Amino acid sequence: MVALLLFPMLLQLLSPTCAQTQKSITLGSTLAPQGPASSWLSPFGDFAFGFRPVEGNTSFYLIAIWFNKISDKTVVWYAKNTDQDPSIVEVPSDSFLQLTNDGALSLKDRSGQEGWNPQVTGVAYASMRNTGNFVLLGADSTTKWQTFDTPSDTILPTQVVPCNKTRNKSLRVRLDIDDYSSGRFLLDVQTDGNLALYLVAVPSGSKYQQYWSTDTTGNGSELVFSETGKINISSGAGIGSMADYFHRATLDPDGVFRQYVYPKKANAGILGGETWTAVSMQPQNICHAIVSDVGSGVYEFNSYCTFDIGTRNQIASCQCPPWYKFFDEQKKYKGCKQDFQPHSCDLDEATALAQFELRPIYGVDWPLSDYEKYEPIGQDDCGRLCVIECFCAMAVHNQSTSTCWKKKLPLSNGNMADYVQRTVLLKVPSSNSSQFMISTSSNKWKRNRKHWVLGSSLILGTSILVNFALISIFLFGTYCRITTKKNIPLSQASSKSQLPLKTFTYKELEKATAGFHEILGAGASGVVYKGQLEDELKTNIAVKTIDKLQPETRPVSTFL
Ligand SMILES: *[C@@H]1O[C@H](CO)[C@@H](O)[C@H](O)[C@H]1NC(C)=O
Ligand SMILES: *[C@@H]1O[C@H](CO)[C@@H](O)[C@H](O)[C@H]1NC(C)=O
Ligand SMILES: *[C@@H]1O[C@H](CO)[C@@H](O)[C@H](O)[C@H]1NC(C)=O
Ligand SMILES: *[C@@H]1O[C@H](CO)[C@@H](O)[C@H](O)[C@H]1NC(C)=O
Ligand SMILES: *[C@@H]1O[C@H](CO)[C@@H](O)[C@H](O)[C@H]1NC(C)=O
Ligand SMILES: *[C@@H]1O[C@H](CO)[C@@H](O)[C@H](O)[C@H]1NC(C)=O
Ligand SMILES: *[C@@H]1O[C@H](CO)[C@@H](O)[C@H](O)[C@H]1NC(C)=O
Repeated sequence: MVALLLFPMLLQLLSPTCAQTQKSITLGSTLAPQGPASSWLSPFGDFAFGFRPVEGNTSFYLIAIWFNKISDKTVVWYAKNTDQDPSIVEVPSDSFLQLTNDGALSLKDRSGQEGWNPQVTGVAYASMRNTGNFVLLGADSTTKWQTFDTPSDTILPTQVVPCNKTRNKSLRVRLDIDDYSSGRFLLDVQTDGNLALYLVAVPSGSKYQQYWSTDTTGNGSELVFSETGKINISSGAGIGSMADYFHRATLDPDGVFRQYVYPKKANAGILGGETWTAVSMQPQNICHAIVSDVGSGVYEFNSYCTFDIGTRNQIASCQCPPWYKFFDEQKKYKGCKQDFQPHSCDLDEATALAQFELRPIYGVDWPLSDYEKYEPIGQDDCGRLCVIECFCAMAVHNQSTSTCWKKKLPLSNGNMADYVQRTVLLKVPSSNSSQFMISTSSNKWKRNRKHWVLGSSLILGTSILVNFALISIFLFGTYCRITTKKNIPLSQASSKSQLPLKTFTYKELEKATAGFHEILGAGASGVVYKGQLEDELKTNIAVKTIDKLQPETRPVSTFL
């Protein structure tokens, strides 16, 4: 059955020059961002090449290729200036792109000034293929240039990124989902045959840390996305047939290389509705994969990375510690800053002790940024030494070894952790000081926490009652250890069987929270309640209720 369905598609893929299906784009053809002709379609209409408006910015367009039949028009390729200057080509709205009569592809503005060209000559015609590849061809039908050779952040079935012995070929992430400038990660097909993911500096792109690789140095590996939907560095093979699903693999802005499928027809089957569903990903937990001694980690400084397996495509997210706030709520990856008057180095000890205090925070750690270490020392002295010093932003104390570390700003590599012997103490304005304003309602519960829990929710529908019923709670702490030890092999994101994910009914949650009784806190999208499961461990949980529909539910973490 599957083979039968695949057959017409394969036939199409295997005969890319087949005349009746390949409508070619002839010399003299022109596209304009705001004209009737703003893109060229593939014969089946699945893909389009042309001008794409940039969300939130009406003054310029991208030259791009996108999935044309689906509602969100997912961009899979976008033009960059040159190899030396890999910034995106920003197209003013009065420009036009022409396959010129003398055989070149050229972007020009009204005054005739050239803005971009892919540096090929002798083109006889062009073709937007059904595979999503836009190709410039010579009179003898040889390929002169193709977008498959200059991948942006996405590869498609039938695309191969070969190993080139003289230069590393990379996929570079965009900065954010709607910001196409070069981001903080890249996937390299290296000259030495290794395929690796790197954390890189923005904007220079110099490599910081390798956080994942195929370990195939010396054997000339290439990155292959086969026509059957299998990428040879992932296990997403065969999930969602080519006939029923669109496929892509993207190095996402959070540094994870994910393989996605999208049903071609509504209600096409088990893999979600009309949306992209990740079927495999590398690395499995980006927050834990990166600890970089230079640079800030997965997100910018003073933030921490949370990664919630309970959410749909397991997107990592950036959070600020209490008393810190985002530089930009819209661009959270930019990190956080203190939301209080910082400790001035002019304060004397007594004033510092009156104005600042240390508060334990749970479930989070910043493993680097230490600048001082004392041993043996008790927790109170450790804290005091941090409070009185203007450089100190955080102290960490290990009870079993009586070790104290002092940390300075900016804090880097913030991450979820479930230490038991290690207490992370954040320096904040003391409750005595005029700066104090945070609610301390959850303090009582903050003490003595052995297990902390991250509650996450997906939205089922729009009715308040349904939204109120939380669908899944993911338990960290005890359970998290078990899974990480098991060393899940290249797991498929959609196979929930391997994950310690439990679905709760509304009734169970109502019971666990004693009728949504005790409030722990409130976020932008809803209220978080304290609860306790009736398991052997009497695991404490945080239950978040959603009262606002958001297109994508972000994971929510709670300090307990
Ligand atoms: C639109 O993008 C251009 C080019 O990057 C930039 O100069 C301009 O400020 C942006 N406008 C808005 C409203 O974001
Ligand atoms: C490798 O890259 C160089 C520089 O871009 C190019 O000239 C060469 O043709 C490539 N080699 C192969 C085998 O593709
Ligand atoms: C390719 O990347 C590797 C790993 O970062 C590096 O060692 C090597 O020098 C790079 N090769 C070239 C030609 O830049
Ligand atoms: C390279 O290929 C050889 C022969 O197939 C194999 O024995 C070896 O393990 C491979 N090395 C790596 C690093 O994959
Ligand atoms: C991917 O597949 C290609 C061709 O089948 C092969 O040459 C390459 O070594 C594979 N790469 C990895 C990392 O397995
Ligand atoms: C708060 O202020 C009072 C009076 O100034 C002082 O006695 C007390 O120790 C202070 N508490 C803290 C935590 O600094
Ligand atoms: C605290 O010290 C103990 C004993 O040396 C050690 O096993 C543990 O890993 C330390 N914890 C942390 C988080 O450093």
